[in-house]
Amino acid sequence: MRVLSGLILILGYAKSSRSAFITDPASLVNLFIGTTNGGHVFPGATLPHGMVKTGMDTDSPGNQAGYDADPQYNVTGFSQLHDSGTGGGISLSNFKIFPLLTCEQDYFEYCKTSVESRKVLRNLLEDGSPDDFAQPGYFSTNLSTGVRVELTASRRAALHRYTFPSSFPSNVSSNPNTNVNNTYIHPRIVVDVTNDGSQTSTYPSMQINTTTKRVTGGAQFQASFGPGRYSLYVCTDFQVPGQSEPGAGIEEYGAWLADYPVRWTENVDQMYYGFRDELGALLTFPANTSSVLVRVGVSYISADQACANAEEEIPDSTAGWDFDGVKNSAFETWNEACRLLGRIQVDPTGVDNETVSLFYSSVYRTHIVPADYTGENPLWNSTEPYYDSLYCNWDTYRTLYSLYALHAPVDFARIVRGFINIQQHEGWLPECRGATQKQYIQGGSNGDPILGEFFVKYYKQAAALNVSATDLYNALLADAEIQPPNWDLEGRQVNIWKSLGWIPQDGYEPGGTNSKQVSRTLEHAFGDFAISQVAQILGKLEDAAKYAQRSSNFANVWNPNVTVPSGPSSVVGMMQPRFANGTFNYTDPRHCSVHDPTQATCYLNAANHDGFYESSPLVVSPVFRDYVPHDTARLIELQGGVQNFIDRLNFLIDENYFDETDEPSQQIPFMYHYANAPGLSTVRSRQVISEYFNTSVNGLPGNDDSGAMGSYAAFYLAGMYPLPATRQFLLSSPYFPQISFYNPIFNTTTTIKAIGFEGNPANGTEGKIFVQNVTINGQPWHSNCYIDWDAFEQGAVIELQLTDNANVTCGTDSSALPPSLSTGGYGEYNYDLGMGM
Ligand SMILES: *[C@@H]1O[C@H](CO)[C@@H](O)[C@H](O)[C@H]1NC(C)=O
Ligand SMILES: *[C@@H]1O[C@H](CO)[C@@H](O)[C@H](O)[C@H]1NC(C)=O
Ligand SMILES: *[C@@H]1O[C@H](CO)[C@@H](O)[C@H](O)[C@H]1NC(C)=O
Ligand SMILES: *[C@@H]1O[C@H](CO)[C@@H](O)[C@H](O)[C@H]1NC(C)=O
Ligand SMILES: *[C@@H]1O[C@H](CO)[C@@H](O)[C@H](O)[C@H]1NC(C)=O
Ligand SMILES: *[C@@H]1O[C@H](CO)[C@@H](O)[C@H](O)[C@H]1NC(C)=O
Ligand SMILES: *[C@@H]1O[C@H](CO)[C@@H](O)[C@H](O)[C@H]1NC(C)=O
Ligand SMILES: *[C@@H]1O[C@H](CO)[C@@H](O)[C@H](O)[C@H]1NC(C)=O
Ligand SMILES: *[C@@H]1O[C@H](CO)[C@@H](O)[C@H](O)[C@H]1NC(C)=O
Ligand SMILES: *[C@@H]1O[C@H](CO)[C@@H](O)[C@H](O)[C@H]1NC(C)=O
Ligand SMILES: *[C@@H]1O[C@H](CO)[C@@H](O)[C@H](O)[C@H]1NC(C)=O
Ligand SMILES: *[C@@H]1O[C@H](CO)[C@@H](O)[C@H](O)[C@H]1NC(C)=O
Repeated sequence: MRVLSGLILILGYAKSSRSAFITDPASLVNLFIGTTNGGHVFPGATLPHGMVKTGMDTDSPGNQAGYDADPQYNVTGFSQLHDSGTGGGISLSNFKIFPLLTCEQDYFEYCKTSVESRKVLRNLLEDGSPDDFAQPGYFSTNLSTGVRVELTASRRAALHRYTFPSSFPSNVSSNPNTNVNNTYIHPRIVVDVTNDGSQTSTYPSMQINTTTKRVTGGAQFQASFGPGRYSLYVCTDFQVPGQSEPGAGIEEYGAWLADYPVRWTENVDQMYYGFRDELGALLTFPANTSSVLVRVGVSYISADQACANAEEEIPDSTAGWDFDGVKNSAFETWNEACRLLGRIQVDPTGVDNETVSLFYSSVYRTHIVPADYTGENPLWNSTEPYYDSLYCNWDTYRTLYSLYALHAPVDFARIVRGFINIQQHEGWLPECRGATQKQYIQGGSNGDPILGEFFVKYYKQAAALNVSATDLYNALLADAEIQPPNWDLEGRQVNIWKSLGWIPQDGYEPGGTNSKQVSRTLEHAFGDFAISQVAQILGKLEDAAKYAQRSSNFANVWNPNVTVPSGPSSVVGMMQPRFANGTFNYTDPRHCSVHDPTQATCYLNAANHDGFYESSPLVVSPVFRDYVPHDTARLIELQGGVQNFIDRLNFLIDENYFDETDEPSQQIPFMYHYANAPGLSTVRSRQVISEYFNTSVNGLPGNDDSGAMGSYAAFYLAGMYPLPATRQFLLSSPYFPQISFYNPIFNTTTTIKAIGFEGNPANGTEGKIFVQNVTINGQPWHSNCYIDWDAFEQGAVIELQLTDNANVTCGTDSSALPPSLSTGGYGEYNYDLGMGM
């Protein structure tokens, strides 16, 4: 495994303040973080939010994103679309290309084309890791057959380069495609139309053009996390360098079924075999051809459009396709100083390289998905942007979009337009969309806080960003007020939510699965908070009051009497499942934690009757401010005061109820802020980074979840934690002496300086890392615990005075603690309504 070692250039004095500037952040990205043992990260080639994500597929159990860094697993092909960090089934490993050195006795019809027969291992480096390399927009590997494979991508097309060895490697005789008595290499390329990773294809089609050797085809496939099926099409062209005419020089072609290629057939209809599980095309190149380029266009609309996408983005020319040009252009798109990665600048002085790489790699992973499928929506025609691979909003709403708000507002606005367009055509906001299909809702309808996050921060610029405030608000109201026919796939079980104020455990209604009622109650409350904020900005004060009232409904599922069996008496009161008649059912607070005596799971597909989703009552209760980050003051009151609140947080983390792998726990380490003990948040959050995040292939505690974990780590390293659909960020100390965010909409830069920075203690617990006081643009700021969005809107220099005394506080001002709804927060914004609506 090799990654670029980054160039950190120190530019010296710029604008009279000495600061280091990272000119080439894309080179600091390690794409292999979290690519084995459950991270499910995609390390292949893609543009930021590209539709095509071309990468290597292995036959490992954890190949949700195709790839596994564990070299014991065989390579099955190089496919065109993937997700990143998801659970569920293997998603989008469609249309694999595979290189063969030759075939038995060099005979076309003896070639082994099926996944099972053709797969091979990768070469190993001296340290035992696979001989794979990746940088943003590019991936390469060296197979044990001696074939070198390189991949790069434009938005809707991939370009592959297969470089063949000049002689047979000595160590691959077990593979039937190399166990030959031939004396020369006779390269062949397999195009696999049906293997999406899970063998789900139906209605496959495949056609070889006998003149151009263009292979077109498609099939229907099963979506990875939902009941729907999707159609996908491919268009594959071949070029031998030096021969600019695609297909020129190809000696043989034919269709194949399983392990039976038949020479000179154009499609499988010309073959006898009935069963069509695996099929595709096989092409033979001249003996000793040193390399072959394969251009692969894909489309959700048609094979013709797949061809058009490829021709538009990787055009034919007399010089042939420009692999290095596509590769360099992809890299620069990630890198551009004022685009994406370069918009966040850290000063690496005194910081180890691994931390700098961890930071930029985490930010990188936040821009793999959502994927920009604009022009590829098969369901309706629209000129609005269309984004897919929202897998799921439940994972990403807490931290991902707040990071976009800081540095990628144009992408954010386009994604929001796509959400609104989906609501206008389907009735409800998307939640877990994948491969153009509705996939399963996990908890609430978390498009609500995502739209809220956008509008609270960008309402003044919304019109200029082509986001209609009216349409955005109507989309939120649809989620909040109209019950869909199937609330497992979109929207909410809203009728009962409106009438009762909680989702009852015995509220059996058709239209969805009656489970995870407590989690849904908490998330609906937060969704309504987000709507109340939008209503307030729009001057719809009655609506604002109504939704703020509904957002307090989280307290309806609080049972004050429940304790942890044999736990401390100060930890009393839990979120619990409640019946429609108002009485409570009981779920053991240890349920779904590592201490669960029944070792139950709380996943979607388990027999989940306990009312919770992917978290225990213990985690949900303190972290319901993660579900409803608007009223921790009320939570502290419910828990019996500040000391009980701190005791519970300590109990949770010290006894391993904190689940570093899953989003409901994400905010727990930062919650001491609300108890006026921000030093404890600094220690706890830094311990999370030091224990669970690093730059190795195992460097993630669990699935990356479409950038959810990437944005979480990026915020922790920046010394911030976002509160979506509000204008506040919780504040701790950054891992850098300085970090700045450039916002291209405001054209402002906001720089956070850690005054007195002395490096990062490896264990996170001691050292000069605590925020003693804060100034903004030289003026004392009223809180050491949070900063306002105004600083990012207007641009600012925020100076944090560091100390090594953990006993810091939020300050003495009456507004020093972060806001909560029940103590007057969020109700009195003086929004400027002059936004030309
Ligand atoms: C960090 O990166 C710089 C620049 O590439 C290099 O000179 C330095 O040796 C690296 N330090 C460590 C500890 O790897
Ligand atoms: C990889 O493929 C080879 C050849 O088919 C096989 O012998 C080997 O067991 C495979 N490895 C794994 C881990 O499946
Ligand atoms: C290779 O040649 C040897 C000796 O002629 C023969 O025994 C063997 O079967 C051949 N192998 C294949 C795969 O054709
Ligand atoms: C094959 O491609 C050529 C060149 O684009 C085209 O003229 C011809 O119609 C194609 N053949 C078929 C059967 O589509
Ligand atoms: C979109 O418009 C094209 C061209 O008019 C038409 O062929 C296609 O059927 C339309 N698609 C849908 C889903 O309406
Ligand atoms: C909690 O206990 C108190 C005192 O026994 C009782 O009055 C109250 O009804 C209980 N609440 C619930 C929800 O069980
Ligand atoms: C409330 O509803 C639950 C579940 O339907 C039932 O078991 C319980 O007896 C009811 N309690 C009362 C007081 O009606
Ligand atoms: C009450 O909780 C138990 C334990 O989780 C569960 O098996 C049961 O189905 C619940 N009762 C109702 C009426 O939902
Ligand atoms: C952005 O701000 C910089 C520095 O403040 C200024 O030089 C530049 O003209 C601004 N650009 C735009 C497009 O307003
Ligand atoms: C944590 O690291 C700091 C310095 O990095 C060290 O002084 C301290 O003793 C360590 N604490 C623990 C508990 O290991
Ligand atoms: C911040 O702390 C430093 C060091 O204790 C002190 O010199 C400075 O006056 C403080 N600033 C404010 C605004 O309290
Ligand atoms: C922090 O406060 C605790 C309790 O007030 C005290 O015991 C401890 O000595 C203080 N630590 C420092 C470094 O001031």
